[in-house]
Amino acid sequence: MNIDFTNVPKHYASRTHEKMQDVLMDPTGIGPAIHYYMIRGGTDQKNITVWEPGTISGEYIKTYGHYHVGNLSETYWIVFGKGVALLQKLAENENGEMISDEVAEFKAIPVEAGQEVFMPDKFGHLVANTGETYFVTADDSPVDFDDKDPSSFPGHADYELVKKMRGFAYYVVENDGKPALKKNPLYKKIEKEDLGGLPVIN
Ligand SMILES: [Fe+2]
Repeated sequence: MNIDFTNVPKHYASRTHEKMQDVLMDPTGIGPAIHYYMIRGGTDQKNITVWEPGTISGEYIKTYGHYHVGNLSETYWIVFGKGVALLQKLAENENGEMISDEVAEFKAIPVEAGQEVFMPDKFGHLVANTGETYFVTADDSPVDFDDKDPSSFPGHADYELVKKMRGFAYYVVENDGKPALKKNPLYKKIEKEDLGGLPVIN
């Protein structure tokens, strides 16, 4: 394997509470300074993400969530802990553009160490840490280290649609100590959904 040591300082990024306020169920809630840590190596070396445990106004700590630009799928391997992956594909207009508040298909998938989850192209994805420890994944998404901010915001990922909608169609929340889903009221329509056996609370 050919490792370019000149790139070492570019591999680490972290997602701050301030940035996560874009997509939290309660942007005024109290949370850790850093929600998750990323060490990016790209497709060959893999990317490692480490989530803090905990909740913010009842919502489990999660990744920001993004859609891939172009036809790009991705696999996440769960290394440690347990979580819930959310996948959503937006409806498209006649020009093939995504409609921000209409979901064609939504999936919630409870996952734990040893499992893997496939993110098909077109499906935006995020993962919430629903355990009491760090939650750790490896994934194989590509990173172009010539991008402006490749480790924090790789060029293959579109965060704007998630920001606009303040998260995905459901939030993963703690209910009686267990994960449940709570609808994001900004979404107008969900055509098809598989909630992975998780209850929905109001
Ligand atoms: Fe991704």
